[in-house]
Amino acid sequence: MKPILDILNGDKPSRRAMWIMRQAGRYLPEYRDLRAKAGSFLDLCYNPQYACEVTLQPLRRFDFDAAILFSDILVVPHAMGLDLAFKEGEGPVLETVSDMAGVDKLSDGLASEKFARVFETVERVKLKLGPLQTLIGFCGAPWTVASYMIEGGSSKRARALAVALDNPVWFQVLMQKLVETSTLYLLGQIEAGAEVIQIFDSWAGDVPASALQRLVIGPMAAIIQGVRKVHPKFPVIVFARGVGDNHDTVARGTGGNCVGVEEDVALSKVLVSLPAGVAVQGNLSNELLLGRESEMVAQTRGILAAVPRDRHIFNLGHGIQQQTDIKMVERLVKEVRDHG
Ligand code: CP3
Repeated sequence: MKPILDILNGDKPSRRAMWIMRQAGRYLPEYRDLRAKAGSFLDLCYNPQYACEVTLQPLRRFDFDAAILFSDILVVPHAMGLDLAFKEGEGPVLETVSDMAGVDKLSDGLASEKFARVFETVERVKLKLGPLQTLIGFCGAPWTVASYMIEGGSSKRARALAVALDNPVWFQVLMQKLVETSTLYLLGQIEAGAEVIQIFDSWAGDVPASALQRLVIGPMAAIIQGVRKVHPKFPVIVFARGVGDNHDTVARGTGGNCVGVEEDVALSKVLVSLPAGVAVQGNLSNELLLGRESEMVAQTRGILAAVPRDRHIFNLGHGIQQQTDIKMVERLVKEVRDHG
């Protein structure tokens, strides 16, 4: 019935499923208005009424098959007790963790009002979705979230990687805490109405192949197992961004129903490498939405021709950029609807 759920359950969808990472955001004037009204990005995230509205904004403009909860992956370390701010034009600034004392101070976040607000947002969105639209909940994967907790910001990853490869006991405990908290956080979102979960490992591409199992696959697998202990067969999209030739290893190791694929990787090649029934999501370059319409359309057609709609969720290879012209998104949606 719902195209995205059909694909993740191995059924035939009625049309090409489509949504866009970061589909709610600064490229929409109505988003900018509401963020200004809320005060800041974090105020927006923790205001269930506004966050619900922002989640639904892209669905009013574009014929998408999913709403993704409006929140951020850094809400998890924030709820665990670390200070967080989003500075205009700078991105996130997060309090850091660098030893066992820092890890010991982290709570499991569950008693935090912050998670309760996110769950309320999910409940509100669920009540307002159309019958064919799927509600996607999410969290960041332990490696990506840990890397922000170690670096404190978004620009570099060298220190986090050095710690992870050195693998001190405090880092192991940190990763374990993130697995536990993320699992409970996702279970709360599911309880509130999320129908699919996407786990974002945005920095998986920095991890050498030799450490992929320990840093990327194992922690995501543990979260998915924890979720499915309560909700057997719950549909999960795993986005290990940048792992290139290793998406099949990620699919097998995590048990995800669908793998998100970054741009510049042939979707058809990934699809044939996957276990039976696992789908692909992606992977139009977000840069193409900033360029010439003809080029964007040509690349979109290439993707539509390369992978069948019963094994594919159309998306970008990474989040839509702030400078994107809404007309290009309209053109993209038209292309997928006319030729999908
Ligand atoms: O529409 C959606 O996709 C849902 C909401 C969502 C946001 N962030 C909103 C957001 C989701 C799913 C995320 C995930 C997220 N957040 C990731 C993983 C996906 C990815 O992009 O790799 C990461 C790494 C973050 C951390 C984060 N949040 C950074 C590095 C930044 C700053 C970069 C930027 O674009 O400014 C954010 C801020 C953020 N998260 C914004 C939005 C709409 C922009 C904040 C603003 O309005 O100023």
